[in-house]
Order: sequence, then structure tokens, then C-alpha cells
Amino acid sequence: MSQGPSRRGLFAGLGAAGATGLLTGGLIGAAVDRGQEPDSVRERVLSRSGPREGLPPALHTPTPAHVHVIALDLSADTPAEVAQQARSVLGLWREQVRELHEHGTEGVMEGSPTQGLHPASLGITLGLGPSLLERAGLEDRRPEELEDLPDFSTDRLDPALCGGDLMLHVGAEDPVVVSAAVRHLLGSVREHARVRWALPGFQRGAATAQDSSATPRNLMGQIDGTVNPHPEEAIFASQVVASHTDAATSWMDGGTYVVVRRIRMLLDDWFDLSPQERERSVGRRLDDGAPLGGENEDDRPDLSAKGEDGEPVIAANAHIRLASPEHTLGARMLRRGFNYDLGWGPGGRAEAGLLFTAWQADPRTGFTAVQRHLDEGGDALNEYVRHEGSAVFAVPPVREDEPFMAHELWS
Ligand code: HEM
Repeated sequence: MSQGPSRRGLFAGLGAAGATGLLTGGLIGAAVDRGQEPDSVRERVLSRSGPREGLPPALHTPTPAHVHVIALDLSADTPAEVAQQARSVLGLWREQVRELHEHGTEGVMEGSPTQGLHPASLGITLGLGPSLLERAGLEDRRPEELEDLPDFSTDRLDPALCGGDLMLHVGAEDPVVVSAAVRHLLGSVREHARVRWALPGFQRGAATAQDSSATPRNLMGQIDGTVNPHPEEAIFASQVVASHTDAATSWMDGGTYVVVRRIRMLLDDWFDLSPQERERSVGRRLDDGAPLGGENEDDRPDLSAKGEDGEPVIAANAHIRLASPEHTLGARMLRRGFNYDLGWGPGGRAEAGLLFTAWQADPRTGFTAVQRHLDEGGDALNEYVRHEGSAVFAVPPVREDEPFMAHELWS
């Protein structure tokens, strides 16, 4: 049954300014508040995060220096028990997340390790996996966008690093704040849920960045995150914000879907390449991130340009050519990459790479369309990366006073 125009539909029709007046919550209300975000390091360290802008904290800009993404499974077996457990866990987290955003960890935990620290912009985002709705007998409430990702030929996935009933994405400017918040949230649900996989990620610290507004670099040394939809662009709503007018799936109207991939980097092999070879693999310059043949980071790559040798300036298998909207039927998503470095695993293998998160209205036409093209097109980066973990989650809309609206599902 249709419930009338979706929040996203309204947004598209009204334009950003009109939508803000009407809609004070949800992802879209946030989009236009961006100008009020603190951008200095000091302000970010001093500030509280939470859903005040309407975007889930994981999509606030600038991105936090530290995150921990955790996937959990509920322990019950029967659909009725799983549904009951989900209700309890989400009810607990709803209150705790509200308190954490308002008072910080030191305000809610006695003897917190964060005593003496500023709030550090702590932000907590929740996701629900396809397995949760399946196991809770709620298949009829599952949007078709929330399906397990297909297999890709370059996948080297470890099942222990994939999937999950629930996701917590906890970010802050300080790793102690992240750690304390995670412990608080997991400690309260340990009777009901166990961690399936977890991955902490980080970025260059804003305090050490010469320009904290510059696009960060990944561990391969590339400027990563240049081409992304911006909240003030009209396409942000259609590409990032989910639209669900149907009553069964309206709990996700105004939310978003996140794909999380753990992508190990073969950094020794990568740094054995010459800088020119590394630039050719991606199609952008290493020093300033400009597309090959262009002048500035923000220049649109000229995919038709040929060099004096008659060869394309941006190689046929360059990452940005294969990932471009021109080659993927306009597919776009909001990419938020974090580095991970867990030291050395068994056999002395370096465990470092990209904690890749992509946020979109529909993973089938976002992440999956692009990844399929990178896979089948023989992306030059493929030789230097291994996709080892994978998951997709529904991220319900956020309201000013509600860290997530998932309770609509269970009522
Ligand atoms: C370790 C793995 C990866 C690395 C090191 C990497 C690195 C990069 C770099 C350096 C850029 C150019 C700068 C920018 O626009 O951000 C880029 C662009 C892009 N990447 Fe990746 N990437 C990786 C994986 C992926 C994956 C898994 C996807 C999605 C399936 C993806 C999708 C994109 C898209 C859509 C662009 C923008 C293309 C354009 O329109 O110019 N990347 N990536």
C-alpha cells in the first residue's frame, strides 16, 4: 500500500531549501545544515556529535579520525525469539546512543577511561543486516535493496569476516572515546549478541594535517574520496537517500544502505611499482590527485584524451575509468574510506588496507554495479588488493530526537 510521496521524492520536488522547512529529521534534513558543521580541529574535539543534523553520524563531514565498525549476531534461534531479542537490543541501544551523544562516555559510565577528555565528536550509527530480518521472520518487511551482495570473481572473502545481523559504526576524533563507547554498547547486550567481526579504522589526524580540509590519503598514498556526491547537490538525495513509499518498507524511507568491505592491500608489491606505474593504475597523479591529463584534483577526468602515442591518457584498465559513472550507467555512492592496520598476522602477513564503506540509496545500482565493472574490466588495482570481508546493512533514518527509527519495524 502506498503512503504517498516518499521523503526523498518530496526532497527532489521541493529542492533543498523547501525540504528543510518541512522536514526537520532524516538524512535529507541534514544535507542542508552542513554549513553549520564545525570544521576546525579544536571545535571537532570539543563538540558532541549525534543526529542533530539529521544525517547519521557516519555521514557527517568532516569524517572522524577513528572509527570502529562492528558486526554482531543475535544468539536466539526461533523467529519469535530473534524478534524479541532484536527489540530488546535496539531498545537498549536507542537509549544508550541518545545518552552517549548527549553526555559522552564519561557522562554515562562510572570510571570511564575518557575522564578528562573532550567529547571528540562521538557519533554512533546503526545498521540492520538482511540476515536479521530473515531470522526474525520479517521477510515481508525487507526492502529488495537489502539483499546479500552477489559474488565477484576477485573476491577472496573469509566467511568469518562477512555479514552480521546488526552493525555499529562508532566514530570519534579520539580512539579512547571510540573504545569506551564500543565497550559500553556491547557490554549491555552481551547476553543477546556476540561479535561476528570487527574492524577499527583511522585516518590522518586532523591535528597533524597541514590542511585539515584536504581529501585524505589511503595507505597506498593516493588521495582517496575526491569524486563523491555532496549533500548540497540535488543528486545526493536520489543517490544516497533511500526512498520507500510502500507501507511494508517505509521504516527505511529516508534511510540509506551501507556496504562495508575489508580490502587488504599488498603494500610491498604496490610500493615496488614506480610512481608512474602507480599513477597509471588509478588514473590520477600521486602528488595532487589530479586526473592524468588534468590540472587540479577537482577536474573531471577526460576519458577520451589520447597521448602522442595514440594510447588513452587514462588507461583502459585504470581504476577511475572503470569506476566512472560513464562506465557504470551513472552509478554513484558516497564512499567513506578508512585505513586499517592490524600489524602482522599468522605467517608474518601484513594486515593492512582499506575499511571501505559505501552509502547509497540502492546497493544494486550503486556498489554492485561499480564493483562488477571493476571486476570484469580487470581493474589495474585488483593485483594489489584483496577483498576479504563484506557486508551490507540498512541504516534507518535518523531524527533529531531519535538515533534511529528501527523500532517502527517491531511495533
Ligand atoms: C583498496 C581498494 C581501493 C582503492 C585503493 C581505491 C582508490 C581510489 C582512488 C585513489 C580514487 C580516485 C580519487 C577519488 O575519486 O576518490 C578512486 C575513485 C573511485 N573509486 Fe576506488 N578504490 C578502491 C576500491 C573501490 C571500490 C571497491 C569501489 C566500488 C565498488 C570503488 C569505487 C570508486 C569510485 C566510484 C571512484 C570515483 C570514480 C570517478 O568517477 O572518478 N573503489 N578510488
